[in-house]
Amino acid sequence: MTHAPQHRIQVVAHRGASEEAPEHTLAAYKKAIEGGADALECDVRLTADGHLVCVHDRRVNRTSNGRGAVSALELADLAALDFGSWKKSPAWRGRDEEPDWEFRPEDRADTSVLTLERLLELVADAGRRVELAIETKHPTRWAGQVEERLLVLLKRFGLDAPAGSADSPVRVMSFSARSLARVRAASPTLPTVYLLQFLSPRLRDGRLPAGVRIAGPSIRIVRNHPAYVERLKRNGHQVHVWTVNEPEDVDLCVELGIDAIITNRPAAVLDRLGR
Ligand code: G3P
Ligand code: CA
Repeated sequence: MTHAPQHRIQVVAHRGASEEAPEHTLAAYKKAIEGGADALECDVRLTADGHLVCVHDRRVNRTSNGRGAVSALELADLAALDFGSWKKSPAWRGRDEEPDWEFRPEDRADTSVLTLERLLELVADAGRRVELAIETKHPTRWAGQVEERLLVLLKRFGLDAPAGSADSPVRVMSFSARSLARVRAASPTLPTVYLLQFLSPRLRDGRLPAGVRIAGPSIRIVRNHPAYVERLKRNGHQVHVWTVNEPEDVDLCVELGIDAIITNRPAAVLDRLGR
């Protein structure tokens, strides 16, 4: 059964198609593009030698066969690790045919550390418009360096200063209002997304930090506070929700007029939306 919405909801692959291939790898992003995702989400961190890499956790322990903090490792150290060796695909969990290997061997190609630069190249070569939602992770540790490097890289791809925020194929997301303010100061037309894990009383009126157009609440906030979504929309904000994996949550997003669904299962969400 499909639940086609009245408006076109953007489907964003969270860390790539991260239930089909290991998160934040080229394999996961290629799958997302092949599967028709409108946009890709990625987290970025700085290595010890100043490269932006797509890694979610502070340390590489969970998602690779190595150990240590990304910030303490150089790109060459990270390049020696396998980011595809680490776990079984959740898509197989509990199924009768659950394999004893992890991700399918063919989905484990392209699993060395992914630089943001390589991801930008992939998007540039996609052959169609694929948007990118880049999340700055723990930017306070680096006092502006993450945003600075990010903008230098975006500039190299001609993406740092879109003519208007509505046309931008790139947006920057963060749980840190300060990080978003740094981005806006450097590039006022680059859209920013304020991520929210919980709804604090101070935010309930549906206002966002100055200059932020897009709210990024968790699906838990949306389930528990649907009126908050209405308030955001009434205040003229777009709403991008994460991480939406269950069909009933997709349906709720359709019902509430959410603008973008960020999901580990882009193919399943597209299917649910009738696309
Ligand atoms: O897309 C936003 C979402 O990714 C934020 O949470 O922990 O998955 O980075 P996290
Ligand atoms: Ca993220």
